[in-house]
Amino acid sequence: MSGTEHEFREIAGDQPATEAGTAAGGREGIELVRADRRHLIHPQHHPSEHLAPHIWVSGKGARLTSIEGKSYIDGLSGMWNVYVGHGRHELAEAARRQLTELPFATAYAGSTHKPAIELAETLKRLVYPNIEAFYFTLGGSDATDTSIRTARFYWGALGKPEKFKIISRKLSYHGSTVGAAAATGVEEFSSVFGPRANGFLQIDSPYPYRFRTDRTGVTEGVAAADLLEEAILREGPETVAAFIAEPVQGGGGGVIVPQPDYFRRIRDICNRYDVLFISDEVITGFGRTGRWFALEHWDVTPDIVQFAKGITSGYFPLGGTGVSAAIKEVMDSVPADRRWMHGYTCSAHPAGCAVALANIRILEEEKLRERAVKGGERLLGRLGQLLDGHPHVGDIRGLGLLAGIELVSVKSTREPYPAELGIGKKIRSALLSRGLLTRLIDETICLAPPLVVSDDEIDLVADIVGDAIAEVTAKSL
Ligand SMILES: Cc1ncc(COP(=O)(O)O)c(C=O)c1O
Repeated sequence: MSGTEHEFREIAGDQPATEAGTAAGGREGIELVRADRRHLIHPQHHPSEHLAPHIWVSGKGARLTSIEGKSYIDGLSGMWNVYVGHGRHELAEAARRQLTELPFATAYAGSTHKPAIELAETLKRLVYPNIEAFYFTLGGSDATDTSIRTARFYWGALGKPEKFKIISRKLSYHGSTVGAAAATGVEEFSSVFGPRANGFLQIDSPYPYRFRTDRTGVTEGVAAADLLEEAILREGPETVAAFIAEPVQGGGGGVIVPQPDYFRRIRDICNRYDVLFISDEVITGFGRTGRWFALEHWDVTPDIVQFAKGITSGYFPLGGTGVSAAIKEVMDSVPADRRWMHGYTCSAHPAGCAVALANIRILEEEKLRERAVKGGERLLGRLGQLLDGHPHVGDIRGLGLLAGIELVSVKSTREPYPAELGIGKKIRSALLSRGLLTRLIDETICLAPPLVVSDDEIDLVADIVGDAIAEVTAKSL
C-alpha cells in the first residue's frame, strides 16, 4: 500500500481507499479533512457520516465542483436555497458594493438604512396582500422564533397572555433553536437535548400518501385539517396562540404536498377559534413552487409568514417574518414599556438586504417562477415515465421545482423498508457515484434543483434517480 493510500484509510476508516481518496481530493484534501474533523462541528454532527466528506470548491449554475475536480448536479440547490444558481456575479457585486459603502448599521428602533427599507417595500409588493410589515432575521430558525414570539406577544398585548400554545404538525421542520425545535415535528431534533420547551404540541401531517381517515362524508384533506380543530378544542381555544405549518413539508417530511382542500379548511378553523396561522415558507417562498408564496396555490392567506433560504439564494444569511396589518397595528399601539422586546444584532444586515434585492431582481427578470413551473412539470413527467410502474416506487410527488420520490418495500401495502437495510444511504451513494448530490428523508429522495437548471440537466437528474433506484432495489430484494 502506498503512503497516500495508507493516509486515505486513516481518514476513511472502513471505506475503500479509492473512494475516500476521491472524496478527500489528494494530499491537500487529507490535511483539510484532518483539521475539519478535529476542529469543526457540523450541522447534525456525527463522525460516522464524516469519514470522507466532500470538499466543495466552486459552483456554476446548477453544478458544484469538488476538490478533486468532479462535477455534480446540485439536486437540492445546496440546502434548498440556491435558487438563482451558483456563481452569480450580480449577487457578489451587490454584497461588495454594500459592504464597501455601509457594512453594518443597527436596525434597532431609532435607526434604519436604505437596503432594509427597500427590501421591506419590495416584499410588501410580492407577499400575500394582507401582510404589511417585516422583521429580518439571519435565517429560518430565528424566523420561527420570531413568529412564535410575535404570536404570543400579540395575544398578550390584547390582554390574553394565557393564549400561548403553539400547534404544529408531525414531520414538520421549523429549525434548530430551542423554540423552533420545539415546534418541529420530528422527535430526533429534540430528544437528545432535554425536555422540549413548554406549550408546543403536534397533530398528524396531512401526508396524502399515508393519511387515512375512517370518517365518512368528508375528504381526506378536510379530515386532516380537522385534527387541528380537535387539538384546539382539547387544549381550549383560549390557550392556543398559533398554528404553524409549511405549505409543502420539506426537511422533516420529504416533500409532502397536502390535499388541495387542506389549507382552506385550516384557515377556516384558525378564524373560528382566533388562532393565528403562521406559514413557514422557508423552503416554499420566492417562487420555488411556481408562486411567490405557496399558499397562493390554494387561495389562502396567513396572519404571519416566515421565509429565509431563497430570499438571498444562500449568498448571504438572511430570513424574516412578515405580519398582517392587524398584528402590526397592535405592535404599534402598545406603550413603550410593553414593546415587542425582540431583536438580533444582525437583523436587517445591510449586505443581506442588498443581496436579497439583487436576488429578487434576478428572480423577476429571468422569470424563474415560470421556470419552476415548467421545470417541475418536466421533472415529474420524466420521473413518472421512468418509475411509475416500478415495484418499489410508492409515490412520486411535487409542486413546482420540489419533488419527492418515496421508496417502499411492498408497494401494495405501502410498507416502508426496514431501517436496518439502510436503503436511504445506499440510494444516496448510488446517486453520488453518478454525479447527483441530494438528500433523502428516510427513503424519500428529495429534489429541489436551482431554478436555473436546464432541461438537459433535469432529464439527467431523472435518469440518474431511475438508475440508482434500479441498482439499489435490485440488490435489496
Ligand atoms: C421550513 C423550514 N423552516 C425553518 C428552517 C430553519 O432554517 P435555518 O436552517 O435557516 O435556520 C428550515 C431549514 O431547512 C426549513 O426548511
